Amino acid sequence: MDFEQIRALIADDIAATDRLILERTRSDVVLINQIGHYIISSGGKRLRPLLVLLSARACGYEGTHHHTMAAVIEYIHTSTLLHDDVVDESDTRRGRETANAVWGNAASVLVGDFLYSRSFEMMVEPGLMRIMEVMSEATNVIAAGEVMQLLNIGNAEVDEAGYLEVIYRKTAKLFEAAARMGPVLTGQPQLEEPFAAYGRHLGAAFQLIDDALDYMGDPEKLGKNIGDDLAEGKPTLPLIYILEHGEEADRALVRRAIETHDLSLLEPVRSAIERSGALDYTLKAAARETERAIAALEAIPPSSYRDALAALARLALQRQA
Ligand code: IPE
Ligand code: IPE
Ligand code: MG
Ligand code: MG
Repeated sequence: MDFEQIRALIADDIAATDRLILERTRSDVVLINQIGHYIISSGGKRLRPLLVLLSARACGYEGTHHHTMAAVIEYIHTSTLLHDDVVDESDTRRGRETANAVWGNAASVLVGDFLYSRSFEMMVEPGLMRIMEVMSEATNVIAAGEVMQLLNIGNAEVDEAGYLEVIYRKTAKLFEAAARMGPVLTGQPQLEEPFAAYGRHLGAAFQLIDDALDYMGDPEKLGKNIGDDLAEGKPTLPLIYILEHGEEADRALVRRAIETHDLSLLEPVRSAIERSGALDYTLKAAARETERAIAALEAIPPSSYRDALAALARLALQRQA
C-alpha cells in the first residue's frame, strides 16, 4: 500500500477532517485568520490526523468525533510548529517562508497559542473525560520535551538515552495520543496500549528520520532548510554517534559544531556523518522503531485499516519529505 492507497481507504474521513481543520481556524481577529490560513493552507503531510482516523476505523468507530479529534491533533501539531520555528529561528517550512519570518516572533507565538487553545475547546466536544486525560498529559509531556531540548542546545555531552528521551517527549508523544484515539472513542481500554505503542514507536522513527534528513535531505522535497539543527547546536543522533564512536578528528569537529553553532561546518559534518557510519546507525535505529511499531499492531484485530497502519510505518522509514 502506498500513501495514496492508504488515504483512499478513508477518503471521506480525510475530506471531512480537512474541512473541519479549515473551518475551525476562523476568528474575528484578522491576523489570526491570516496566519492560521497561511500555515494550514500550506498543507503539510497531515500524518497525525491520518493516524487518528485509521485508529478509529480499526476499532470499528461509527460516529463523527474522530474528525474532531483528528483536527485537534493537527492543531496541536501546527501550534507546536509555529512555536518551534520561533525557537529554532527557522525561516522555511512547508516550502514557504515561516510565519515568524513573515509576521515576526510575537505574532507566531500568539497565533500558536490561539490554535492550541482552540484545540482544547474542540476536544471537549466528544464529552469523554478519557480524551481530556490523554490530551492534557500528552501536551504537557510535549512542552516538557521542548524545554528539555532547549537545555540540551550546545551541549556535546548529551548521550543517546538523553536524546531518545527528548524525541519521545517532543514528537512520539503526539503520535501516541493520535493512535490511542480509536480505543478511547470506542471505549476499549484493553486496546489502548497496543495502539499507543504503535504510535510511540512510529513517532520515534519519524523523528529519527527527520534528524537524518536535516543533514542529508533535499530541501526542495522537504520544504524546509537543511542544517537548521547544526545552526542551532542541537545534539541529534547523527552527531551523538560520532561523538561516541567516531575518529578523533571527527569527534573534535562535531564537538566544535555543537558548541559554536557554526553553519560553515555543515559540509565537513555532513561528510563525517556519512563516512563514520552515523547515518547508517541513525537509519537503523529508525528501522528498529518501525519494526516495534508494526509488532505492536499484532495485538489489535486484523482489518484493512490495521494493514494501512503497518504500511504507513514502512513508508515513514523511506520518507524524503
Ligand atoms: C515536523 O512534522 C515536525 C517533526 C516532528 C519532525 P511533519 O514532518 O509531520 O510536518 P508537516 O505537518 O508534514 O509539515
Ligand atoms: C520537531 O523538531 C518539532 C516538534 C516536535 C514541535 P524539529 O525542530 O526537528 O522539527 P522541524 O525539523 O523544525 O520540522
Ligand atoms: Mg525545528
Ligand atoms: Mg528537524
